[in-house]
Amino acid sequence: MQIAILGAGRVGSTLGRLWHAIGHDVTFAARDAARPQALAAELGERAHAASVADAVAGAEVVLVAVPVPAVTDALQAADSLDGRVMIDAANAFGQQQVTLRSLADAFPQARWVRAFNSLSASIMADDNHHEPPWVMFLSGDEEAKPVVAQLIRDAGFDPADLGGIDDSRLQDPDSALWLNILTHDEATALVAQVKSGDTDAAEQSALRTRVRELAAPFEKFRDHAPADPAFFLEHLSRSVFEAGISWRVVEAKWDGIREAFHGFDPAQVAAMPPTEIAAVENDRRVIRNKAKIRATVQNAREVLAILDEYGSIRGYLASSPDAGAAAADMRRRFKFLGDTGVWRLLTSASRDIE
Ligand SMILES: NC(=O)c1ccc[n+]([C@@H]2O[C@H](COP(=O)([O-])OP(=O)(O)OC[C@H]3O[C@@H](n4cnc5c(N)ncnc54)[C@H](OP(=O)(O)O)[C@@H]3O)[C@@H](O)[C@H]2O)c1
Repeated sequence: MQIAILGAGRVGSTLGRLWHAIGHDVTFAARDAARPQALAAELGERAHAASVADAVAGAEVVLVAVPVPAVTDALQAADSLDGRVMIDAANAFGQQQVTLRSLADAFPQARWVRAFNSLSASIMADDNHHEPPWVMFLSGDEEAKPVVAQLIRDAGFDPADLGGIDDSRLQDPDSALWLNILTHDEATALVAQVKSGDTDAAEQSALRTRVRELAAPFEKFRDHAPADPAFFLEHLSRSVFEAGISWRVVEAKWDGIREAFHGFDPAQVAAMPPTEIAAVENDRRVIRNKAKIRATVQNAREVLAILDEYGSIRGYLASSPDAGAAAADMRRRFKFLGDTGVWRLLTSASRDIE
């Protein structure tokens, strides 16, 4: 199959690699040609880099893997979407609402399906999902869905059909189905609960599977976290800064952010006076989001309170009976940290522990 991949970032490069490995022809496109060209060179035969217009012109299927604010621009750069199967992988956070319905209304010549938005790119790239295959949700145009379901299988996942275009909201960020690693049976049961409107039961089931996901990184972190609390505050703060924006934006600024926050030494961050906090809010080296900057200082104060009470981060984590209780306590204590934030914190910190 000829697949155009709009966006050569985390999602585009991951799915491009997976589809290419199984024999599809992939063409990457972004505004800057460097990354698509590098990916095409890495993959070799059957992998190409092109402009958005050329990539779409030669494609049967188009994966939209650009940030939500760029979706309309990217699609308008194509000459025509006529007859293409379009896969919308974008996640709208907060105010920016681009729904599958609005895309289907704006570009009615194409066949729209939403998929690949519900799991993190790091999970998509992780070979562990092959046995058993984790579930990837899809919804949208009835004729296009079988094509996308096969591409989900080709990427190593199990497709779970949520219904038509308007059902795509079921796979929105922060829904019970989003960022939830499920087997087929779990997904089937959870979808039935979500569709029956039993939100409480769905939230409870979702929580149970999320706790299972968190168990291994939590236990590794609890048993092997470095003694220096700066390690914890740095991972916590990174998770805060990554909320709702691309990790690459955060990655590009991380050295500046680390410097502005004293290498994440909790005592020094907690002691930052208002003048210094105001200076950081205007510092071009950091992501100038006041709420995230203030949350970082507040969180450092909370880390000091934890150290006072438990002696160490490991002592604090060991005081929770399991990952679910620890996650709930962290969400309560720390600013700007939701379910996904805890998951990001524990998985990235445990990855960084030898
Ligand atoms: N990251 C995840 O784990 C994950 C998981 C599921 C879904 N998603 C969703 O998938 C989408 C992509 O996420 P990502 O993490 O892969 O983002 P990313 O790493 O920031 O990559 C975004 C890509 O989009 C390109 N782009 C931006 N504006 C463009 C435009 N107008 N035309 C063409 N290309 C454009 C960027 O390159 P240039 O700047 O050079 O154009 C870049 O290659 C987002 O909507 C996100 O919500 C992300």
